[in-house]
Amino acid sequence: MQTPIVQFQNLYKNFGKKQVIKDLSFDVYPGEVFGFLGPNGAGKTTTIRMMLGLIKMTAGDVLVEGISVNSDFEKAITHVGGIVENPELYQFMTGYNNLKLYARMHEGVTDERIMALVKQVGLEHRINDKVKTYSLGMRQRLGLAQALLHDPKIIVLDEPTNGLDPAGIKEFRNYLRNLAATENVAVMVSSHILSEMELMCDRYGIIQNGELVDVRMVGQQDLSSESIKIIIAAKPMAKAGEIMSAMAEGTSMKVQVNSTTLEIMAHHEQVPGIIKTLVNGDVAIYEVKLDQKTLEDHFIELTGGGEIE
Ligand SMILES: Nc1ncnc2c1ncn2[C@@H]1O[C@H](COP(=O)(O)OP(=O)(O)OP(=O)(O)O)[C@@H](O)[C@H]1O
Ligand SMILES: [Mg+2]
Repeated sequence: MQTPIVQFQNLYKNFGKKQVIKDLSFDVYPGEVFGFLGPNGAGKTTTIRMMLGLIKMTAGDVLVEGISVNSDFEKAITHVGGIVENPELYQFMTGYNNLKLYARMHEGVTDERIMALVKQVGLEHRINDKVKTYSLGMRQRLGLAQALLHDPKIIVLDEPTNGLDPAGIKEFRNYLRNLAATENVAVMVSSHILSEMELMCDRYGIIQNGELVDVRMVGQQDLSSESIKIIIAAKPMAKAGEIMSAMAEGTSMKVQVNSTTLEIMAHHEQVPGIIKTLVNGDVAIYEVKLDQKTLEDHFIELTGGGEIE
């Protein structure tokens, strides 16, 4: 396993008496797109704000390239680019001047770098207009260019696709994936739009009430312990149904016979046996589908559908 670029270590945050983040620990690796998921009020923005040094941690630490945000903030933050909720932009300045101003706060950001990023985020035609004339999506794009100016090793985006249209979301997603893949930048995005996260991320963590309840790869589920639905299109169906009902008898397997498909609830490791039995019984199989749980099912199962506490 490679070395993490960011390590969240036993992080806590209290607002007054309210404990909002509780013992949060996880790592983010170079070159991955990590989804930080959770219902409204779960603590995503609070966690990101602590990582960016915008608010103090109550306990614990965030290490960036092994450097503590808590005790060595300036050094740690040079590797981080971030946007929290709304990117901070000067409305009466042009997009270009906003970037220029921001560039002055960092060493070595050239004009070429600025213009290359402007092009990458698709703002070249509007970059000399004032930011107050921008749409929300354009401001998001400018914010992204700003966050990337100093060539960070990790970029943290809080709800980055808020306000983007479907084409914009797709473009943005491809852009982030590409950034992770070609420049080995780690991308951490928070969101509660699950379908989108499933397309964008390699791995995700789910936070609920300030605690991490799960971390896993996108598309990974525990096939060993759960029963899954297996849908088989076969002919002749009557015969297929007979064979499967006989096979299921006295086991935990459940079989439903439809007009053109069988729906079987069984364990993953039973799939080859099922297919073999059907084929041996002279049933022709046209299609086998495993009904995978979506990230959404998993999310709702874990967070109980998001009641705000
Ligand atoms: N400055 C603050 N003072 C008091 N409570 C706060 C403060 N900021 C956040 N909270 C509380 O902390 C909890 C987590 O809020 P946070 O904004 O981190 O959630 P989130 O996961 O980003 O939610 P959303 O999906 O709605 O953006 C909420 O209960 C919120 O009310
Ligand atoms: Mg938030």
